[in-house]
Amino acid sequence: MQIIATKQELLNQVEACKKEGKTIGLVPTMGALHEGHASLVRRSVADNDVTFVSVFVNPTQFNNKEDLLKYPRNLERDAALLSSIGATYVFAPTPEEMYTADEMKDTFQFDFAGLDEVMEGKMRPGHFNGVVQVVSRLFYLVRPDRAYFGEKDFQQLCIIHHMVERSSLKDTFGKLEIVDCPIVREESGLARSSRNERLSADEKQTAVGISRVLFESQQWAKEAGATVQGVQQRVIDAINGIDGLEVEYYEIVDRTTLRPTDTFSNAIGCVTVYCGPVRLIDNIRY
Ligand code: PAF
Repeated sequence: MQIIATKQELLNQVEACKKEGKTIGLVPTMGALHEGHASLVRRSVADNDVTFVSVFVNPTQFNNKEDLLKYPRNLERDAALLSSIGATYVFAPTPEEMYTADEMKDTFQFDFAGLDEVMEGKMRPGHFNGVVQVVSRLFYLVRPDRAYFGEKDFQQLCIIHHMVERSSLKDTFGKLEIVDCPIVREESGLARSSRNERLSADEKQTAVGISRVLFESQQWAKEAGATVQGVQQRVIDAINGIDGLEVEYYEIVDRTTLRPTDTFSNAIGCVTVYCGPVRLIDNIRY
């Protein structure tokens, strides 16, 4: 496995792979890798001749400076994991290598067709601009055949599908397939997340309540007379009822439009919860 720090070196390696007719898989990450990321990388290694993994804590998608500073970083450990599961290249640039000073100022503009106006987009203004900025740049540089994203960040996944399949940028990516990968959970049910590293042992125990309530809510949705509004409120009340957890939002929306829905068909419930100072997200399909 080779670690690459510059765009030029990345372009050289991509060009060499393309010349040899190799298929390319890309797994964009912000590092602090866990079993969820490993599942994306394993899938890419199985599907493609070579796998590029980017490890880049993208400053332009953080609207909270403290969150950016505290985001866990450990390239050595990440590289050891990636090498053990068969990644071919790791691209780990500095912010200065990735962006010009102007680009760093979060001036990137993109037409989200409204997908950024709800949930994470509403709570974290500018967040998805930064995500599209970095992911589109990685796509231009790596020109992958397939790119792998986790369903835990469901809104991000919808926006990336929109970018590649429907937006004005769509013709610039060639024949690129976005591969959706299921949430990986700990045995307790807690969704794997780099942010879990910031939870104490007690907080981690408390955080298990989030997925427990979400799974229970699948049963609530099947009860006679259950309404979307009713289940939504019941989830909020149940999570808030757990000492140490505070719901920021829970919205049951249509999986395609991300707009509120009044039926459980094609619905997904997306939650953001504070566990102490740590902001966790999860989702469940109905
Ligand atoms: O999901 C993430 O870790 C990030 O948003 C991504 C897609 C790597 C872009 O920085």
